[in-house]
Amino acid sequence: MKITSAGFSAGGGGHTPKYDRIGAGYREVRRPDPRLAALIAGALGDARTVVNVGAGAGSYEPQDREVTAVDPSRVMLDQHPGTRKVRARAEQLPFADGAFDAAMAVMTVHHWPDPGRGLAELRRVSRRQAVFTWDPQHRTKLWFFEEYLPEVWELEDSRFTPLSVVTGALDAHTVLPFPVPHDVTDGFRAAFWRRPESYLDPVVRAASSTFATLPASVVEPAIARLREDLRSGEWLRRHADLLERESVDYGYRLVLAGA
Ligand SMILES: C[S@@+](CC[C@H](N)C(=O)[O-])C[C@H]1O[C@@H](n2cnc3c(N)ncnc32)[C@H](O)[C@@H]1O
Repeated sequence: MKITSAGFSAGGGGHTPKYDRIGAGYREVRRPDPRLAALIAGALGDARTVVNVGAGAGSYEPQDREVTAVDPSRVMLDQHPGTRKVRARAEQLPFADGAFDAAMAVMTVHHWPDPGRGLAELRRVSRRQAVFTWDPQHRTKLWFFEEYLPEVWELEDSRFTPLSVVTGALDAHTVLPFPVPHDVTDGFRAAFWRRPESYLDPVVRAASSTFATLPASVVEPAIARLREDLRSGEWLRRHADLLERESVDYGYRLVLAGA
C-alpha cells in the first residue's frame, strides 16, 4: 500500500524518527489488548471517520469505521495493515478543519516534540478526541523501575506529558483509568508487572521506548540483578502479594474530549 507523505521532512532536523530505529518487531510484542480496545471503541462512540495519530502498526483501530492512520515513522507505517496511511506529525496534520468525526492517539503523545500543538491539531481536525496516555505523576510505580532502574524516573518525568497538560489542552470532559490486567497482551512498559521473567527478554524490552532510550550500560546491570533475584527467590519474597492481584493501576488513562 502506498504511503502518502504530506509535506513531511524526516525528523524536522533531518534525523530518523525514533521508531524508524526501534520499531522493527513492534507488532509481535505490542499486540492490542481486547479490554483496552473495548474502552477505546466505546470512547469513539458513533464516529464513522477516525484519524489515528501516532498510529504505529495500527493497534486499537476499530475495524468497523473508516480509519486514516498518521505516523512520521515509515518503519511503523510499513507494519500497518490499513489502506489509508499518511506520513506526518501530530503537530502539523495535513487535513482540513473538522475533517473527521473523531481522533484517537494511543501511547504516542509523549513522543511528540510539541504535545500542546499536536493536541490542538487533534481538536482542529475532529469533533471528538480519545487520547490514551500515562500519568507521570501517578503514585504507584512499577517495581521494576523502583528497584532495578531508578534512573528511569528522571527520563520519564521529562518525557511524559503531565495528565493535567493533556486534559487542559483538550478541554477534556472525562478521564477513564485503565488498571493493567496481569495478562495484558500489549507489551507496554508496565505490562509485565506480574510476569517478571519477561523483562529478561531483549525482544520485549526493545518494543518499549523507555528501555530503548536508555544506554545498555544502564539497562544490562539492572537485568542481571533481576535475573539473580528471580533465581534466588528474592523477587518472590518481596512481591508475593502481586501474584494475588488481577490488575494494578499504574496511571494509564483514557482522556475524552469533544462531542
Ligand atoms: C508507542 S508507539 C504507539 C503506536 C500505536 N498508537 C500503538 O498503540 O501501538 C508511538 C508512536 O508515536 C509515533 N510518533 C512519534 N512522534 C510523533 C509525532 N510527532 N506525531 C505523531 N506520531 C509520532 C511513533 O512513530 C510511534 O509509531
